[in-house]
Amino acid sequence: MTLPPPEKIQEIREKLSPGERRLLLALAPLDEASVEHIQVKGGFDQLVEVMNSASWAKGKGLVRLSERLFDVLAIDDEGRRYLKEGLPERRALKFLLSKGGAAPAPLLVKEGALTIEEQQIGLGWLKRKGWATFSKVAAETVLEVTDKGRAEAEALTPDEEVLRKLEHKAIPADDLDKVGADWLRSRKSVVRITDHIERRLVITELGKAVAASGLDAGKPTVGQLTHELLSTGKWREVQLRPYDIDAFAPTLVGGRPHPLREMIDESRRIFLEMGFTEIDDDFVQSAFWNMDALFIPQDHPARDIQDTFYLENPKKIPVDDDALAAKVAAVHENGGGLPSTGWGYKWSRELAEQALLRTHTTAATIRHLAKNPHSPQKVFCVSRCFRREAVDAMHLPEFFQIEGIVVEPEASLSMLKGTLTEFYRRLGFPKVRLNPSYFPYTEPSMEVQVWYNDKWLELGGSGVFRPEVTLPLGIKDPVLAWGHGLERLAMVRFGLKDIRQLYLSDIDWLRHRPLLP
Ligand code: PHE
Repeated sequence: MTLPPPEKIQEIREKLSPGERRLLLALAPLDEASVEHIQVKGGFDQLVEVMNSASWAKGKGLVRLSERLFDVLAIDDEGRRYLKEGLPERRALKFLLSKGGAAPAPLLVKEGALTIEEQQIGLGWLKRKGWATFSKVAAETVLEVTDKGRAEAEALTPDEEVLRKLEHKAIPADDLDKVGADWLRSRKSVVRITDHIERRLVITELGKAVAASGLDAGKPTVGQLTHELLSTGKWREVQLRPYDIDAFAPTLVGGRPHPLREMIDESRRIFLEMGFTEIDDDFVQSAFWNMDALFIPQDHPARDIQDTFYLENPKKIPVDDDALAAKVAAVHENGGGLPSTGWGYKWSRELAEQALLRTHTTAATIRHLAKNPHSPQKVFCVSRCFRREAVDAMHLPEFFQIEGIVVEPEASLSMLKGTLTEFYRRLGFPKVRLNPSYFPYTEPSMEVQVWYNDKWLELGGSGVFRPEVTLPLGIKDPVLAWGHGLERLAMVRFGLKDIRQLYLSDIDWLRHRPLLP
């Protein structure tokens, strides 16, 4: 492993907590030690403090922690008795030798060498250790000591040795003779076994380098500058722990605006930055403001019940400006004295008073202009519109439009193109293209497209309001206008194939969707 440069090592050192410092200082001269040892050497009150510091130090690659699981053997009740009285087979062997090397089995109990409960165990081990042979003589089992039995009469067998070692202390199984320990473990209540975990700390090369770089126990470190530290002047005696921005922390996902709301607010902000003023109006409007005032003829297909939501309640919204209504009627019928022939049909006030859900934000624009026929002005509206669309991947019956107008004596098409280009550049779309199009209320009319992901994306319309629209309101200067769909833009920016995703309240998507560039 190559060590980081000294500045980095110093930086690691400075960010160490007091616990990590003590741990490294205690461990460095040893290279490796048990956590209990470090607890004592490092002056830790509790083992958990060592473990805490160790896990931080481990996270920084300063130490490694190894864990080993092992058994510890301790003497149990029966073992303690055997220690005093001898193992049953040992007592049996002694008894047989005292009888000249052979005796009938029942004699062991009868003469008190073994208890009745021990008989079975004693004979079993006598056989297993090869100390005696068993033979049947006239329906009686006779035991006879073997050569091995004689040879081991005075020696201790491995199990006996282990039992002695356990007399005063518990000992890890690994430190005991395996055969002896296993023999004892196979008996009942002779030894007790407990599992232990051994935790050892090993210092890494990086840990060594940090320890060798001038590590000291340091001033007491504090993580937070408190009022008390400041007012008592104690801050002089402590060291403020620098933030460890690399420390692990769970990712918190808090509340945040809906992506569509983010885009709405972003486009509003861009309009404001470009000097526009925000307007909006009611969703419920009369056909007069949604259509008639915009020189949309009363037999225009967009007025059809198929395309527009007409309301039952209110069914009708009166046109309260009679003078304007008369002008609009005249313009529709014959041009109203303007250089226009109008549409040449009989205008109906009743149709104009039908209540509907606005089909475009241009209804808000025109009503604003009727009330504020000034020049110059720049206003915008980012708001909701409604159309009777069948819902599919590309269409929704409710959607947002981004709409703007510029009114000023010098307003021109190149100004329109420049304004749109700047607006969309700020929204993340580098190029804008205008194609000829048609709307009843603009001349010329242009369709607006933006460049995104190597494709032209169609956004909606734009143009210069016709005199049939502006003159009845008393506006003489040109009015540049445009109105675009917002969800289309959101779809490409969020990489969506289906517009409905924007309205699903799909928390998973909302959390994990990419941030806007
Ligand atoms: N109102 C038009 C629509 O809804 C867009 C538009 C607005 C066109 C302003 C020209 C001028 O599609």
